Amino acid sequence: MTEKKLKKLLQSMSLTEKINQMLQVSGEFLTEETVLTGPMKQKGFTEENIGLAGSVIGVHGAQKVREIQSAYLTKHPHRIPLLFMMDVINGYRTIFPIPLGQGATFDPELSCKCAAVAAKEAAVSGIHVTFAPMVDLVRDARWGRVMESTGEDPYLNSLFAEANVKGLQGETLSDEYQIAACIKHFAAYGAPTAGRDYNTVELSEHTLRQFYLPAYEAGISAGAGLVMTAFNTINGIPASGNQWLMKNVLRDEMKFEGVLISDWGAIEEMVAHGYCENREEAALRAMNAGVDIDMMTGVYSENLSELVVEGRVNEEEIDQAAYRILQLKNRLGLFEKPFKDASVEKEKEIILCEENRLLARNAAAKSFVLLKNEKLLPIRKTDKIAFIGPYVNTRDLSGSWSFTGDSADVKTIEEVVKERFGSSAVCLPGSRMLDKGINLQGFQDFTNESSTREQEQDMLEKAVEEAGKADLVIMALGEHYLQSGEATSRGELEIPEVQLNLFKRICEVNKNVAVVLFSGRPLDLRRIAIKANAVLQVWFPGTEGAEAIIDVLTGAVNPSGKLPISFPYSVGQVPIHYNEYLTGRPFDEESLQERFRSKYIDVPNEPLFPFGYGLSYTTFRISNITLSKSELKAGEKLSASVEIENTGMITGTEVLQLYIRDVVASVVRPIKELKCIRKVTLQPKQKIEVNFVIDETMLRFYTAQGKWESEPGLFKLYIGNSSKSSTCKELMLVP
Ligand code: GLC
Repeated sequence: MTEKKLKKLLQSMSLTEKINQMLQVSGEFLTEETVLTGPMKQKGFTEENIGLAGSVIGVHGAQKVREIQSAYLTKHPHRIPLLFMMDVINGYRTIFPIPLGQGATFDPELSCKCAAVAAKEAAVSGIHVTFAPMVDLVRDARWGRVMESTGEDPYLNSLFAEANVKGLQGETLSDEYQIAACIKHFAAYGAPTAGRDYNTVELSEHTLRQFYLPAYEAGISAGAGLVMTAFNTINGIPASGNQWLMKNVLRDEMKFEGVLISDWGAIEEMVAHGYCENREEAALRAMNAGVDIDMMTGVYSENLSELVVEGRVNEEEIDQAAYRILQLKNRLGLFEKPFKDASVEKEKEIILCEENRLLARNAAAKSFVLLKNEKLLPIRKTDKIAFIGPYVNTRDLSGSWSFTGDSADVKTIEEVVKERFGSSAVCLPGSRMLDKGINLQGFQDFTNESSTREQEQDMLEKAVEEAGKADLVIMALGEHYLQSGEATSRGELEIPEVQLNLFKRICEVNKNVAVVLFSGRPLDLRRIAIKANAVLQVWFPGTEGAEAIIDVLTGAVNPSGKLPISFPYSVGQVPIHYNEYLTGRPFDEESLQERFRSKYIDVPNEPLFPFGYGLSYTTFRISNITLSKSELKAGEKLSASVEIENTGMITGTEVLQLYIRDVVASVVRPIKELKCIRKVTLQPKQKIEVNFVIDETMLRFYTAQGKWESEPGLFKLYIGNSSKSSTCKELMLVP
């Protein structure tokens, strides 16, 4: 529809019709089945609201969407189509690694491909908008939603934000198989005080702008159709009512012109925050902040008409909000094609097809991070191997944001092992997944599986006996998939005690133990890393996770993942991140014996495993960092080159990481900041030179003057294979 016609449509709508475009209801008001992801309570919607609602959340499936859309259009006075929105976070039915795992690939292009498949499967199932990518920067492993992020670095998060928007939306939203992306959660939801979900966020404007805002801006610049408000406060004001954040920063500075949708119930929750006295005031504050859609409460539909009549809200503001929603529907082509790509036939052809599964398997293998390997992996076919652990026989490998997937599509490690190593291969759970008494409430009603003490003891002893006969033991351990995700903050970061006990017993009878570790967050791995000869972090790898794990364990795939987030030595270090400030009393090599330094007296400052770290089955030598010149002016470029050689016996992939440190500036600057990555695959003994182009824009930061600009002076440039790389070259930025 042309803009002219769209404007005409808006002018023909009544105030009530415009306001109800700003309402989003969950599917159960339109059908009996839907997936609910927020606190459900009586919403006080009226029949009229439902009949005029602008969008629906949680309905999917071509047949159902077509039925609902048909019925809705018939009744709607202007035949304005419904928007169907859903959380498609790491895949629709073919489930990819969780976003934190995708971050570990250090391969945004790969993530873009995964997003494109997710969009295609979702689109043929009738979905128009996904609430993804989540681009919140996270430094705190206690916060369960770290699993939805791509980690602690602004640059890496920005690359993945842009790649996911491109994968989901393609070039044009109305094109076949494209769906609209929603950048979330604006802003800084990943920095809750004490790592506790939904808690207050306390950040200086400097830190907010320097670290937390860049990835949102990258997603918006990539053309994301929507932004979602965060549950938390910024500067003491809830995001959904925060005019500075939503008008000055999002709309004016970032030039976002798309739809701003609240998170589930977030407008209404401003009353609970103690920021609004009642729902009427919440409606007013959210309107003043420019929130277009009220997700799953009746606050807007109940109050906005009255607020307009009272002159406290301008109808012009309602028009702007309703028009942005109509524009989104128009960008998607819904006025001409209200069913867009919903097709039962296409669902059968596209969903879970071989090509999609292969991509999922490839992405999973590339997401794994080899944290330790004392010549134990890859396993040799001749080895007598025992696979032991509660993750050996579960299909729940896809993480807590994969409820449109089906665990029946997922092979267990045991099934793949039997296929690859023969039916005689030893696969035993050895222990329950969770300690007794931990009852996880989540998207499914989870009740800790019931087993008697005798059964558990028997399970344990059987596993120990078999481990004693094996050449090596592969242990599949980890947190339960519902122990990370929304509302799963944890005060402790170890795997369940019952699994640690199993690990301890196995290590007593076999000295060759490799641990395959499932988690949605960095865990405290001390008690595992000390004893295990190998540790492979696999996150929650998705539909093809088991195949990918065996591919890597057997060496069919050489692991190449890198940590997108620091793994702490202990929870006491959290929040911990590589790009910290030095402080006035740095604790470093020169000051190890000094007492009055920024350090702990009971644990090290260093994480157990740092950002950017990950091993390979081969080895690499990185050397000869050379700069084409040692001085740089604005507008100029210089080249930084480095040699990398595969010094091992098998082909491998390394991620070269270029970090820069601004030694002196108008505000303190991080020890180092990631500025460029390059993945290179080398044959054995192959040696190549890799070049990075450096320009002044890479040296810009949020200065004491409140501007994004560079300042002349000395910079140190590091190129290596983790954030701990120490070889550097000096560079002067001259005016
Ligand atoms: C949830 C989440 C948000 C999600 C939304 C809709 O509470 O915070 O990320 O997209 O509700 O399910």
